[in-house]
Amino acid sequence: MSTTQPVYASFKSIGAYVPEKILSNEDLEKMVDTSDEWITKRTGIKERHLAADDEYTSDMGVKAAKLAIERAGLTSEDIDLVICATVTPDYFNMPSTACIISEKLGIRNVQAFDFAAACSGFVYGLSVAKAFIESGMKKNVLVIGAEKFSSIVDYTDRSTCILFGDGAGAAVISATNNKKEAFIDVHASADGAYADFLVTPAPGTVNPVSQKVLDEGLQYVQMKGNETFKLAVKTLTKDVKEILKKNDIPSEEIPHFIPHQANYRIIKAVGDALKMQEEQVVVTVHKYGNTSAASIPMAINDIWESGRLKQGELMLLDTFGGGLTWASALLPFAGESAQR
Ligand code: UT7
Repeated sequence: MSTTQPVYASFKSIGAYVPEKILSNEDLEKMVDTSDEWITKRTGIKERHLAADDEYTSDMGVKAAKLAIERAGLTSEDIDLVICATVTPDYFNMPSTACIISEKLGIRNVQAFDFAAACSGFVYGLSVAKAFIESGMKKNVLVIGAEKFSSIVDYTDRSTCILFGDGAGAAVISATNNKKEAFIDVHASADGAYADFLVTPAPGTVNPVSQKVLDEGLQYVQMKGNETFKLAVKTLTKDVKEILKKNDIPSEEIPHFIPHQANYRIIKAVGDALKMQEEQVVVTVHKYGNTSAASIPMAINDIWESGRLKQGELMLLDTFGGGLTWASALLPFAGESAQR
């Protein structure tokens, strides 16, 4: 790669890890006052995967990252930045999960840090990777989205426990001079006015760990579900329309629209607003639930492994989450197609 020519960021590879244990809607019927029918109709979710008790966010991130590095045709020594999007880190808040992942992968003396943008984390990570690469500071950035959401879910609260799952996804973003491989655009934004829509009240400086925190269950995620739902549909639709218009690409030219997997009704509403055909829209929410920052890379991995995503094909990513945060990205898949 020449450094005298313009340098672009390119999406070179994808990997993911799905934990073994399955929590089905039928399992949840035995735990809270809910039904498979209600969950399926309102969310499209049939099952989600949960990490084992001794399996941590970093362990899942490492498994996804190993695949991504190998599939990029690289080794750990080639990675010069490790970033991990998570709101369920191994530790609140030191050391970062990115540092633990780096150590487990044998990546040493390389910048590594976490960032919290909830479900928007992975696409936020792509914007960070793009900036580092295009400024010439880094060449191969490992972007990880990993969550053990089950660690902050109250399994007696039917309004949240039916939604979330665990998992990880990772991508290698590399420098290239080939404009055809380059990210077309990434847009990331936030509005803290809606901070109370999705909150984990503790632990933090507002609510340090105490008996009161435990008695009131403040360590668990709380969500204003219906309000979040409405805002998600509105924001995702607007965001995606803007990025397509800005880059003069009509929605029918997108082979892979990969939205955040929170609720099938949200995905369908946004897809319909964009006049997308069913085969353009990637859906994994039925089998993984909402895995927050891992949701989009797990979905990309699914279509790559199944042979649906091929080298050079355009991906449109769109996500929304706590903060509130949202982000979209328009980029070709610059890695090799899966060998099948
Ligand atoms: O990833 C970050 C972004 N997150 C999201 O985008 C999530 C957005 N929100 C949602 O996906 C939906 O709002 C939910 C799936 C969480 C809830 O669906 P909803 O259609 O918005 O239902 P609701 O909260 O308005 O509740 C309707 C009814 C209520 O009963 P009443 O008050 O009408 O008698 C709830 O108590 O459904 C009840 N309900 C349930 N019933 C059976 C809530 N949860 C359940 C449940 N099983 N699990």
